[in-house]
Amino acid sequence: MRYLTFALAKGRLAKKSMALFEKIGITCEEMKDPSTRKLIFTNEELGLRFFLAKPGDVPTYVEYGVADIGVVGKDTLLEEERNLYEVLDLKFGACRMCVCGPESAGELLKKNEIIRVASKYPNIAKNYFKNKKNQSVEIIKLNGSVELAPIVGLSDVIVDIVETGSTLKENGLQVLEEVCPLSARIVVNQVSLKMEHERIKKFLMDVNEALKAE
Ligand code: PRP
Repeated sequence: MRYLTFALAKGRLAKKSMALFEKIGITCEEMKDPSTRKLIFTNEELGLRFFLAKPGDVPTYVEYGVADIGVVGKDTLLEEERNLYEVLDLKFGACRMCVCGPESAGELLKKNEIIRVASKYPNIAKNYFKNKKNQSVEIIKLNGSVELAPIVGLSDVIVDIVETGSTLKENGLQVLEEVCPLSARIVVNQVSLKMEHERIKKFLMDVNEALKAE
């Protein structure tokens, strides 16, 4: 039997995914070892293989077909714009993509002047300001701790993930506009969905049932 291969976003998302999959009989004992540095795991009995990848790379593995199925955040899917099928909302990892900044920056979003936007998600930021707001912006790509940018004057606002809101609050910033809600999604390679249709369909139906039972 050909392996059915999963690409999981390393970290919290992979752990939550495996906890959910356990409910439908998909297990991988060696992945539970907290000291392991392995990146590929298999369940020979079930013919399954799991990759642990950086979240931003999960859609790439799935688009190229080296993984049949991926679990990744909607933020990454929107940012990467890969050709794949998004088939299921797992609902966990729920948070929001928002435009944030100091209260005073709210005014800048109402006027049609060019503002500076810092983000780890330059495509999401660009698309939001171009397509939803029709506002010209200069995007500055950062790699993390994005809240720093408006505080030190690198940008007027940021486009970033807000979960509890405490990072914003502790840094004197606030949500100015909501871009979109986010959560973990299951994605499937377009060819795999045809070639492994029965196995993937059963997997998705089982996951759906487990989600309903929660
Ligand atoms: C994310 C995000 C915010 C923060 C939001 O950052 O970019 O900074 O979490 O969470 P909160 O609303 O619950 O405070 P992450 O922790 O991934 O680190 P990073 O800033 O280095 O990207």
